Amino acid sequence: SPGALTIGGHSYPIDSWTNVPPNILAQYGRKLHVQSDHPLSITRQLIASRFPSFRNHDSLPGVVTVEQNFDSLGFTPDHPGRNRTDTYYINQSTLLRTHTSAHEVDVFRANESDGYTISADVYRRDAVDKSHYPIFHQMEGALTWDRKAFASSEACIQQITKDFEALPKHPLVVEDPNPTYQPSNPLQTQYHSPEEAEILAKHLKRSLEDMVVTIFAEADKGLAAAGHRSKSEDEPLKVRWVEAFFPHTSPSWELEVWWQGDWLEVLGCGVIDQPLLIRAGQPDRIGWAFGLGLERLAMLLFGIPDIRLFWSTDKRFLSQFSEDGPIRRFQPFSKHPAAPRDVSFWLPKTDAPIITNTPATASTAASPAGGQPTEPSTSDQAPPAFHENDLMEIARNVAGDSVEDVTLIDDFTHPKKQRRSLCYRITYRSLERTLTTEEANRMHDHITRELIEKYRVEIR
Ligand code: PHE
Repeated sequence: SPGALTIGGHSYPIDSWTNVPPNILAQYGRKLHVQSDHPLSITRQLIASRFPSFRNHDSLPGVVTVEQNFDSLGFTPDHPGRNRTDTYYINQSTLLRTHTSAHEVDVFRANESDGYTISADVYRRDAVDKSHYPIFHQMEGALTWDRKAFASSEACIQQITKDFEALPKHPLVVEDPNPTYQPSNPLQTQYHSPEEAEILAKHLKRSLEDMVVTIFAEADKGLAAAGHRSKSEDEPLKVRWVEAFFPHTSPSWELEVWWQGDWLEVLGCGVIDQPLLIRAGQPDRIGWAFGLGLERLAMLLFGIPDIRLFWSTDKRFLSQFSEDGPIRRFQPFSKHPAAPRDVSFWLPKTDAPIITNTPATASTAASPAGGQPTEPSTSDQAPPAFHENDLMEIARNVAGDSVEDVTLIDDFTHPKKQRRSLCYRITYRSLERTLTTEEANRMHDHITRELIEKYRVEIR
């Protein structure tokens, strides 16, 4: 019906907040992370194997409430993640989860195990390039201890210490120069003693270092088997802990790995926000949580060069992976030519700032719309303010997986006219066949027309 959307067999009313496009709905429910012999599923199982006592939740539905995705985790009402420029809303109170943390409170409330993982598809409006896709997969893990089960706080700390000492030791070089507590990442003084938070942090860091060692040792074996020089021959694996900020943990960190000459961000984690556990009916539990993106790890584990490949149903892709046996590097089966096209345009005169993802603002940028729904434009109304993610979405809707990259290549404001001009390079390339010149032109013209119609831009 026109006033409703059917997703996963359920019907949801739509309203002025609805912004989830047909191409996203068409891919809902693919469940790549549990598809047998899929590289994302292999990566998920490899991580889960380092947490053998954890209960795994792999099929929680992707439609959640704003309450689950944001409020239950302590996101402030003005948090930029809530913006319609960044998140797919089904209606004002319902959205496609932006992270697996949306299920934390529910899983803690069910209280079925001390440790758990959640793996799932997550959805974000974002850039178009070889490592970003609007649907990706996350895996989350958490471990808690029940203070009530111990005679005293000291006894609980002793148990966590014992558990820490029983964790596997590893040969990693670990850089961790900062003190546990920072002004923006304080000890939760109302709820935790410094000793408790300190031992939770130690247990968390060692557990995740061990997981990373496992993943990268497998990646290394895959490289060696493919006749490449193994990374560990050149230098030992090196990681570092960097301060991070999440509404649902404090203190919080990111773990970065030195890989092929760069620091690569692998996961976010921290000591679980105690009010969150209280909201989940577990005031006596204390613990840690982490979350990571499966695509990023799978790409380096298997040497997969483009994130769109995970969605391929081409046998030449899928037949290369197997759950049994060692990790094998992906062998590219073809490289079709790229068809780049530029689009240059003047933005309509507006007082609102224009937000672009590149280079530094990323998805944490404040929205010009301030989280307010943008009404569709009619002839006597001002057009909605342009956000870079709007172009990303038009490109994906028109070109599907034949768009490889959208990059801002010029941004200039005419000093006298005070008007801003942007130029984007859109690269078309199919992973499966060669696009004709006419096909690329047709897609490009279609995208250009939509830009003009929806945002009243003036082509230069
Ligand atoms: N939810 C965070 C994200 O999507 C990741 C995270 C999970 C961080 C659990 C800390 C604890 O970025």
